[in-house]
Amino acid sequence: TTAPNTLFKITRKTDGISAAERERIVANPGFGRAFTDHMVVITYTEGRGWHSPEIMPRQPLVLDPAASVLHYAQEIFEGMKAYRAADGGILLFRPEANARRFRKSAERMAMADLPEDLFLEAVSQLVSIDRDWVPAPEVGTLYIRPFMIATEAALGVKPASEFKFIVIACAAGEYFSKESATVSVWVEENAVRASHGGTGTAKCGGNYAASLTAQMEGKAHGCQQVLFLDAQERRWLEEMGGMNVMMVMEDGTLLTPPLDGGTILHGITRDSLLTLARDQGLTVREERYAIDQLYSDAASGKLKEVFACGTAAVVTPIGTFKSAHGECTIGDGQTAGPITSRLRQGLCDIQFGRAPDPHEWVKRV
Ligand code: PLP
Ligand code: COI
Repeated sequence: TTAPNTLFKITRKTDGISAAERERIVANPGFGRAFTDHMVVITYTEGRGWHSPEIMPRQPLVLDPAASVLHYAQEIFEGMKAYRAADGGILLFRPEANARRFRKSAERMAMADLPEDLFLEAVSQLVSIDRDWVPAPEVGTLYIRPFMIATEAALGVKPASEFKFIVIACAAGEYFSKESATVSVWVEENAVRASHGGTGTAKCGGNYAASLTAQMEGKAHGCQQVLFLDAQERRWLEEMGGMNVMMVMEDGTLLTPPLDGGTILHGITRDSLLTLARDQGLTVREERYAIDQLYSDAASGKLKEVFACGTAAVVTPIGTFKSAHGECTIGDGQTAGPITSRLRQGLCDIQFGRAPDPHEWVKRV
């Protein structure tokens, strides 16, 4: 595939909301609803490659009702954030890791290969034009959603020959509503998220559609997230509906499920936290951990802290696990443990440009 040699065609929104209205929204954005003014659209046509890159006012898409994405779910996405630094500058966190993962997802779903520099350019362009939508650091971040859909009108089951790559963004506060510092997690014992050879390591929309019944069941039991177990034995912790999971043991070891089974999303937050933990002198183990072990370690006090991690979740402590068979509390159930807090602080300090960045993760827009 070829990168377009034309620059982005830019059409600015002229009938937008007032600056005062935008500031009101950005000061209290919630998650996933406070959309910015613009979007990026780049088109792919077989034989021609990626072309016609545009930045335009955010608007509904026109799709043929036979577009492949609507029938066979040829769709992938990314989730990343822009952070406002104390000096007012805007920072991206490891954006090239998102660009790389996007290519991997595209490959798994037989979609067009998007050059990483084009992905990065599109994200930077959108953040630049909508920079007034990036909240103050004490409020939140700009959540950026790059995605690709198959737009070819054809009902034959085959890879599409036409795609659109689109980037939208929204001002975002906390992903979880803050009734408590911790969240409750439903342990799903029936439905699985991914199996060997499946699409678990791809960030494709279908994985999330398939997680929703478990998420609903969890919600009915008062839980905000769902934990999935492995498909073969329904025993080993994998990950949650939209985030990875980590445990802190009595001896201070940080434990998280390994990626080699090919069923877990390769979280960029996960990878960053493992690096930070090693930097902070913690022992890190990427090892399988069984749900019955979690219950007995929580009861005996061997398991001290558990948290969810991801772009949206950042680092969110888990206070309770619930399943059809009962309930188990982690720590005091109410507050973040010391290692969870230290890792979250260390990560956020780098992301917002408040701390040195030894791994060169942060890119200024
Ligand atoms: N696992 C799933 C299923 C996710 O949706 C996400 C969020 O993107 C993650 C893990 C964490 O990935 P990252 O840290 O790259 O956001
Ligand atoms: C993200 O963290 O970016 C995700 O895609 C997860 C989703 C639950 C918002």
